[in-house]
Amino acid sequence: SYVIGANCIDVTDRACLDVCPVDCIYVGARKSYINANECIDCGACEPECPVDAIFADRTARGDEDRTVFVGDSIAFFSDALPGRAAPLGDPGGAGVLGEIGTDTGFVTGYQP
Ligand code: F3S
Ligand code: F3S
Repeated sequence: SYVIGANCIDVTDRACLDVCPVDCIYVGARKSYINANECIDCGACEPECPVDAIFADRTARGDEDRTVFVGDSIAFFSDALPGRAAPLGDPGGAGVLGEIGTDTGFVTGYQP
């Protein structure tokens, strides 16, 4: 899967959304998140991001800065987010839900 990391925070350019063939990039409040179960690993989003926020999860090994966002991206979908009773799970497309408008606790409190 591909993962969105720290550079997206407070930028959220959204160029990546336009190229994803399976609509698996979900917009939070401070950043966006790729659903690892829905991502088909096409890699189309990676070169589109103007701040180089997107990376393949296989490149995170041994890189603490990336690894935390691999885990946090899973948590965005598997944990209950503030203001939502149930976890997002795998909705099958971001367009169905619209922008989520909230982040994980980690991203909400993230300071560069
Ligand atoms: Fe974020 Fe880059 Fe997409 S800033 S919303 S990952 S284009
Ligand atoms: Fe979409 Fe990027 Fe995955 S374009 S399918 S999130 S590699």
